[in-house]
Amino acid sequence: MKVLVTGGCGFIGSYVVKLLLAEGVRVVNLDKLTYAGNLANLREVERHPKYRFIRGDVCDPGAVAKAARGVDGIVHLAAETHVDRSILSPGAFVRTDMLGTYVLLEEARKQRLKFFAYVSTDEVYGSIARGKFRETDPTRPTNPYAASKLGADRLAHSYFATYGLKVVITRGSNTYGPRQFPEKLIPLTIIRALQRQPIPVYGDGRQRRDWLHAEDHARAIWRAATRGRAGETYNVSGHGERENIWMVRKILAELHAPDSLIRFVRDREGHDRRYALEDGKLRRDLGFRLSRPDIGRELRRTVRWYVDNRRWWEPVIRRNAAFKEYFKKQYGDRLRRSRS
Ligand SMILES: NC(=O)c1ccc[n+]([C@@H]2O[C@H](COP(=O)([O-])OP(=O)(O)OC[C@H]3O[C@@H](n4cnc5c(N)ncnc54)[C@H](O)[C@@H]3O)[C@@H](O)[C@H]2O)c1
Repeated sequence: MKVLVTGGCGFIGSYVVKLLLAEGVRVVNLDKLTYAGNLANLREVERHPKYRFIRGDVCDPGAVAKAARGVDGIVHLAAETHVDRSILSPGAFVRTDMLGTYVLLEEARKQRLKFFAYVSTDEVYGSIARGKFRETDPTRPTNPYAASKLGADRLAHSYFATYGLKVVITRGSNTYGPRQFPEKLIPLTIIRALQRQPIPVYGDGRQRRDWLHAEDHARAIWRAATRGRAGETYNVSGHGERENIWMVRKILAELHAPDSLIRFVRDREGHDRRYALEDGKLRRDLGFRLSRPDIGRELRRTVRWYVDNRRWWEPVIRRNAAFKEYFKKQYGDRLRRSRS
């Protein structure tokens, strides 16, 4: 089997590429290498005989046609992914997340591919005070990232309903683990704690997220792609619901860094309070089980990875002008007006 993976140089995409190669699948990885894409994420497999990398944009039909030549299916992860950036400049999200998905769907339709797996997100549901979202619940995205993902999620579904393309959609929860770009909560906290720099925490820090290990997220995506039913959506939960401040304090404790580094800053606009997913369908219908369910243990391992892999993240924050500029814009003023 040969599969086109998009966004394979990103965080979750790199787990998907490695998983597929380990399963004996031939992989073409189409990635634009935006600020979030990192070739170092796939260093161990770059010479693998079944692996091919193409640098290109999913919005470019020519690049997509070239990358999709002779493939059986597509696993589509490429996206602009950071909520805060989507609030600062939504245009790139509408373009990549929606238009890019359309270009890929068109190619899949033309070639009558055997499957199209769209990697959506729990954020499409919006916030839930009690209980858990099921796949059939209404969607109420509250930020441009989540709304763009939902647009693409529904467009993908329409290619099943209209053209009979075998589309399967996964809605995974907040993902963590080694190789995540340092703008997201966990790596940002680890890196700033290692540098003994103030750590921004939005609002009261009591927003709740359901944490899923990247390896399990990749396994669930592949399980749905290969065994999921056409036209179906599968929630993927890590069964690891925690408050953000719990995560931050655990990381500080692991690094023997003081809690006084924490700065409560002005909350994110439209910040969802709680995400929670009911994943019975994935477990019951596709027999999926988490392989890394112990969030305490996996968080410790993740912290260790960043401690041991400075060579991965130091260049990212030193040389990546986009990251520096973003951090200043997002947190500069917030940190000046923060409280401990
Ligand atoms: N991280 C999470 O918590 C989470 C949770 C649920 C779903 N998801 C979804 O999983 C997918 C991967 O997320 P991630 O956190 O690994 O993202 P990431 O930001 O780490 O990586 C995104 C990758 O896509 C590439 N890319 C961006 N725009 C592109 C374009 N126009 N053409 C080709 N490549 C492009 C980037 O270079 C990068 O390698 C996304 O679709 C995201 O919405 C993420």
